[in-house]
This record gives sequence, C-alpha cells and structure tokens, in this order.
Amino acid sequence: MALIKKEVVDQIIQQADIVEVVGDFVDLKKKGQNMWACCPFHHEKSPSFSVAPKKGIYKCFGCGKAGNSVQFIMDVEGTSYVEALRYLAKKYSIDIEEDQSPAAVQAQNERDSLYILSDFAKKYFVNALHKNDEGQSIGMPYFKQRGLSAATIQKFELGYSLDSWDDFTKAALEKGYQLKYLEETGLTIVKQEESKQYDRFRGRVMFPIHNVSGRTIGFGARTLKSNDKKSPKYVNSPESRIYHKSDVLYGMFQAKQAIRQEDECFLVEGYLDVLSLHQGGIENVVASSGTSLTENQIKLIGRYTKNITVLYDGDPAGIKASLRGIDLILEGGLNVNVVLFPDGDDPDSYIRKVGDTAFREYLKAHSQDFISFKSELFAKEAKDNPVKKAEAIREMVVSIAKIPDAIKRSVFLKQCSIQFGIDEQVLISEYNKIHLSEQKASRNQPPQPTSYGSSFDEMAAEAEAAAAAEAAMYEEEDQQEADQTSVLKLREREVIRWVLNYADKEVDEGLTASQFILSELEDIEFRTPIYKRLFEMCKLKLEQGFVPSASEFMQHEDKEIRHEVIDLVSEKYEISDGWATHEIFVPHESDLIVYGTEREVLRLKWRNVQLMIKNHMNELPNIHNDQELDKCLRTIKTLKELEKQIADMLGIVVS
Ligand code: UTP
Ligand code: MN
Repeated sequence: MALIKKEVVDQIIQQADIVEVVGDFVDLKKKGQNMWACCPFHHEKSPSFSVAPKKGIYKCFGCGKAGNSVQFIMDVEGTSYVEALRYLAKKYSIDIEEDQSPAAVQAQNERDSLYILSDFAKKYFVNALHKNDEGQSIGMPYFKQRGLSAATIQKFELGYSLDSWDDFTKAALEKGYQLKYLEETGLTIVKQEESKQYDRFRGRVMFPIHNVSGRTIGFGARTLKSNDKKSPKYVNSPESRIYHKSDVLYGMFQAKQAIRQEDECFLVEGYLDVLSLHQGGIENVVASSGTSLTENQIKLIGRYTKNITVLYDGDPAGIKASLRGIDLILEGGLNVNVVLFPDGDDPDSYIRKVGDTAFREYLKAHSQDFISFKSELFAKEAKDNPVKKAEAIREMVVSIAKIPDAIKRSVFLKQCSIQFGIDEQVLISEYNKIHLSEQKASRNQPPQPTSYGSSFDEMAAEAEAAAAAEAAMYEEEDQQEADQTSVLKLREREVIRWVLNYADKEVDEGLTASQFILSELEDIEFRTPIYKRLFEMCKLKLEQGFVPSASEFMQHEDKEIRHEVIDLVSEKYEISDGWATHEIFVPHESDLIVYGTEREVLRLKWRNVQLMIKNHMNELPNIHNDQELDKCLRTIKTLKELEKQIADMLGIVVS
C-alpha cells in the first residue's frame, strides 16, 4: 500500500483551506464569523451547515457532521482517509512522494492499466450503440422498448457489444492494449490450447459498472432475446484487481449524492430497476446486481446513510432475499424498511406500469419496518396455530438479536411485544436463549451468562458513569475556579445558552424553554455582566410577547453581545453531543430539552446558593451582635438545607 509521508500529510492539512475545499461543493455565504450553506449531507431548506475559517472546520447543526478539510472530502466523496489526502494534494498541487518501491509502482501501474482499458471498452460499447448500424438497429431499439430515455442511456453510459467473435478484442489490441489486461478484466476470453481469443460480450446491451468515483471497473451485459434458454440472461465481468463484486453496488456513483440528501437508500435487485427508478426521479437507488447482498455493500451504503429500504419482488424468492437482507442490514447497525411488489412485478416493471407518482405513493403506503414486515409475513401462518406462532416470535427475536446497539434492541423488543400482544419478559427470555446459543456456536469464547440482562446492567453502569461524570464536573469546577464567581459564570453561560438555543421549544403544554427558564430564575441575580445583560434582553423580549431570538441578537449594535451570542449558538451541537450519553434515560430530543433545561436551572440555583452560603460565612467574623449572629446562622442553615435539596434533585452527593 502506498504511504504518504507525515510531513506531506501535515502540509496538505495546512494548505487545504476549509472555505476553498467546501466551496467546491456548496455555495457558502458569510454571516458573522462563519460561512453558511445548506448542508450537503442532509436535505434542508434553510442553512444550518457552517464553516469556521479560523478554526478550519465545518459543522452542521442539523445533522451533526463535522470535521476538517480531510474529513469533509471523506464525507462528501465517501472516500478513505488516504484517498481524501490524495484528492487535496492534487487540488493544491502538492507532490505526494508515495512509496516508490518498484513493486508498488508496478502494481499501481497495472491497476491503472486495467482502469484505462475498462474505460476504453466502455467508450467502445457506447460508440457501437450510437454510431454502429447494428447498435442502432438492434441495441438502441431494445433500450427504447425497455422505456429508457436518451438521458438515462447517456447518464449510465449504456452501450452495445457487436455480435461478432472478436471485433472488440481486435480493436483493443490494435490500440496497443496488452492481451494480459484484456484477459484479466475478462473482456477477452483467451483459449491457450487453441491460441485463440474472443470477446466475452457479444450481441448484448452493455451496462458499465462504476466504482464510487465513477471509474468503469466492469460490465453487465444482457442478452436481447427474451426467451433464450441456451445462454444466460446476463453475462458479467469476472473479478479482477479493480472489480470486487462483493464491494460494489450498481448505480452508487450516480446515486450517492441523492442518498445523502434523502438520507435513505433504496436497494433493488437488478440493473433495470436502478435505471427505471432513476429515470422516474428516484435517484437514491442502487442494486446488488444478482449477487446476494454482502456486509461490505452495506458498509458502503452506510457511508452515505443509515437508512435502507429494500425493494424486492413479492415472489417467494424475493421474500427470501428480503429476509436475508434484513438480518444482514441490522447486523451492520443500519435501519431497514421493506417494500414488496405484487407477485410477478419488480420495481422496474411496476414503475413502468403505474407511473412515477403512483409508484411513490406505493412506496409510502407499503413501506414497513422489519418488525411489521416479519410479523405480517408470519401472522398468516401463525393464526390459530400456537406452534407456528412461537416460531414466528422466534423469527422476530432472531432479527432483533442481530442489532448491535443495546438500546435499539430493547426498543424493538418493546415494539414487538406490543405488536404481538406478548409479555416483553417472554421476548427477553427468548432473546437470551438465542443469544446464548449463538455464543455457543461461535465457540471461541465460553458461553457467557445472558447478555440482555447484562445490557440492563450496562445501562445501569452507564447511568452511574453519567452521574459520576456530573459529580466530577462540579469537583473540577471547584478546583479550577478558585473564586466562585467564575464557577457561576459558567453556569450562567449555560443557562443563557439553553435559552437562546431552545427558546421556542415546548417543555410543557404551552410553556417554552425560555419562558420556563426565565420564570424559574426570576429571583436569581446574574453576576456576570454580559450574561446579566443577555438575561435582561431575553426577559424584555418575553415580556413584549416575542421569542428571544439568537439570530436577532446576532445583529445587535454591541459587538460584545453579537460575539457572545454567536459563540453560544455555535456550540449548540456540542451540547447535544455531550448529551448523547443521556439518551439512555431520555430517548427523545424533546425530553432531552425538558430534562436539560430543568437541570441547567437547578445547577445555577445550586451554585448561587453555595455562593450565598459562602458570603454569609465570610460575614460571620464581622458580626458582633448576638441577635444578628443568630439570624445569620439561621440563614446559613436554611441555605444549607436548600443546597442539599437541590443537590438531591441533581443526584449529587454533598459531603
Ligand atoms: P432479474 O432476472 O430480476 O433481471 O435479475 P432484471 O434486472 O429484472 O432484468 P430484466 O428486467 O429481466 O431485463 C436481477 C439481477 O440479477 C443479475 C443481474 O444483475 C440482474 O439485473 N443477474 C440475473 C445476473 O447477473 N445473471 C443472470 O443470468 C440473471
Ligand atoms: Mn426486470
């Protein structure tokens, strides 16, 4: 493998200006310190994707994608780290002295030769389709009859291979392409004994297969005869150093942008399914092309989205393929939905039968999550048959057991229990059985006690860890911040941040986060001037009947206010990120806001009470009147009780 030297990597990272790099893909507009655009990674109408030129990073507040220039290229192009570095090196004309060992150079050159040859072949077939008489009279009418438009034919670079023994091979050799490469790519079949060579693809329409960056790496070739028993319907390129079937999905190059935008990938079986859907405006579609779905193909989709919808034929083979696909997708940690078509139809025939609009509606109406899909499938047989019913339940739990994420697993077990009207405990013990037997089967490790039970332990442990982290946070604050006003400053800042970021989010019926926070803190006096001002500004807005708006404050005449507000708002994502661990207790974003605002309010109150206690304690030596002393001591006592109460609510143990 080629290596890029560390100094060169550093140079690339230093030179790759984030604004320039991102600017090649989206239209950035300056607003405040940062640049903004609609996010290239998810579909949105108003920009929440930002670039911070000074920090050299991008961050989307909508979908959470963030990173530097290299990460951006990895995300947007779906490349590896090294590929992204190469891309940037090229853009900035930086010489990457990669590993120059003769073997490495030769391997690279040979792969390049395979790419170049495949590209030549693709062009040759395209040319034959458009310029050759046979292509025009036989190939083109076939595509037309299959309903493909000129635009689709062009976009997917479809072609035609002449019905001749070695027309292509001869042309390639004439151009100087070496026979060994023709043989490795499978374009030419070489018969050693007879020292004969002939074209693999003859008299077929050609579907070039591209890798994610759009280079041709292989071909699928369909016969034009509808009922030819003698030759296979499709002939495909064999594996080569540039074509690994199990890593490739047909149509990914043309679909990746749309998959990212729609945050969903439709998975179909055939070339024609991809083409017809694409032509019908559904561009986020790829095909596994006959081979059964692989782990790597799912990983490839996972670079662009976590949501796969499987569109298969409703015949028994299609159902079987769906079931297998579902488990594999779940295992890969992705979400899966299923749409089946009426028996005898595949997505291609169905969209051509009913048209684009009805097809979309069909997708919407018939898309099911895997629990519903499986339960419906088995419900038919299971009805009134307890043995079948038990089998059906087991089937369901088998799929759930594939899900790597413990929280998701428990959510699906719950859904399953509701859908089937079965006690969740029954499902859990079924899960444990399956899990145990799988562990036994893997044999490498001795069987462990139940994992579902222990995933509850895991959750409890995580809860404990979260509480410990919170306690540690206060401790750290205490240690670092010698004077309590800076501790308070932190808390005041957090509160304002919550107000600005979640101003109009409901935390209770008819009560927004900003209303809640401000009313709770009515009696609290802010001590940090800037936050005091912001707090007053928010209060005024609310009193006037408006929502305190960060974007309005960002236009404030006072520079200090403007900067502070941008800072507070651009940390929005980091908060939710930090809160991710809490998802265990509060799975919904709305709950998170309720939980978060309550806690922030409590934290500030708590720190305030502590400061008041401290101030009173400091006063004690100065009091020389018994009555006054008594009064002060009583106040301290009350405050200490209050401190304890709040600490209890926060789950902190106060010593
Ligand atoms: P289908 O038989 O469903 O073909 O195989 P299709 O795509 O619907 O094609 P039409 O509509 O009959 O023209 C699905 C996929 O399986 C692979 C191809 O990738 C095909 O698109 N396949 C099928 C082969 O590789 N070889 C075959 O002989 C048949
Ligand atoms: Mn078909």
